Amino acid sequence: MSNTTDSEGLILRQDYFNDPSPWSALVDLLQDTFSIDISLQDQFCGPDPTSMPFGYFDETGRCVANFSAFSMPLIINGRVVRAAGYQSGAVRPEWRGRGLYRDLMQRAFARTKAEGFELDILLTDKPALYERYGFRAFQQHVFVGPPPETAGPLPPARRLSLQDPGDMRLLKTLLQDRAPVSGRFAVAGQMEMFHLNACFDPDIRLSLVADTTVVAWKFDGGTLRLLDVAGPAIPSLAAISSALDLRAERMEVCFPPDRLDWDGTPALYQGYTWLMMRGDAADNIDGPVMLSPMAEF
Ligand SMILES: CC(C)(COP(=O)(O)OP(=O)(O)OC[C@H]1O[C@@H](n2cnc3c(N)ncnc32)[C@H](O)[C@@H]1OP(=O)(O)O)[C@@H](O)C(=O)NCCC(=O)NCCS
Repeated sequence: MSNTTDSEGLILRQDYFNDPSPWSALVDLLQDTFSIDISLQDQFCGPDPTSMPFGYFDETGRCVANFSAFSMPLIINGRVVRAAGYQSGAVRPEWRGRGLYRDLMQRAFARTKAEGFELDILLTDKPALYERYGFRAFQQHVFVGPPPETAGPLPPARRLSLQDPGDMRLLKTLLQDRAPVSGRFAVAGQMEMFHLNACFDPDIRLSLVADTTVVAWKFDGGTLRLLDVAGPAIPSLAAISSALDLRAERMEVCFPPDRLDWDGTPALYQGYTWLMMRGDAADNIDGPVMLSPMAEF
């Protein structure tokens, strides 16, 4: 961790996640700004060890501004791309408009550039903030279509509980060794956000299919929305839907379905954030993509 003091008496801290008091001050900043509780990560595997947080703290220890980078390797068109994600960007209202965010963004971008990341990725509802740094917005698409033929009698899926320590140990193992859910565009390794996103949205269900694969899904009575699949291999959509046995009329897959042995028609994703990227690897993306909602950050 390194600290410096700026002209307004604020202390700049970097790489401070091992220190409980600035970590808890960041938890408060994100709770106050976005109404999310990132301390839920402590119940799973703690904060992402690849995180590179940059924050300003006042003399009482309150975090007034933060912007974090983290490592999020991606698969793009079959190749592993060393990507840096950016998250936890917030400035307390009374400190806005003074250039603190600009300062923190520039520090984080300089750090990931120095560390050799080849792609930068973020999700935002304020694309203009990042366009001036060369980020390009990608319209995300879900993939919709009729259910596949059933895959024959398969053992039923077992629901996993976020409250069950054994289930969470299993989830951790499967996320650690997961095969990317798509060869076109997917996260290659990242587990903290999967757990956090499952905690944030009570409608998300996690099921164990064929004893080796966790499937994150939602069902509204008609549409089965497949959010992510984590395990050493990706089963076909037919095998997944047979194991879930929901009798859905329509499938909506929230990532490119190239590994599901099923094809869907791309449809505009009605999210409130833009997926933004910069770097050569992003320029090679052709066709519709979506970052699994379980990897949202
Ligand atoms: C967005 C936010 C982080 C900006 O913080 P800030 O400290 O006021 O920003 P700065 O004063 O450093 O301004 C940095 C630049 O962003 C621009 N900017 C500020 N707010 C903006 C907004 N809402 N939309 C677009 N651009 C914005 C500024 O004009 C400035 O541009 P410049 O560098 O060309 O001069 C802050 O308003 C905030 O915390 N909002 C709520 C949480 C949020 O939206 N976070 C971003 C998540 S992606």
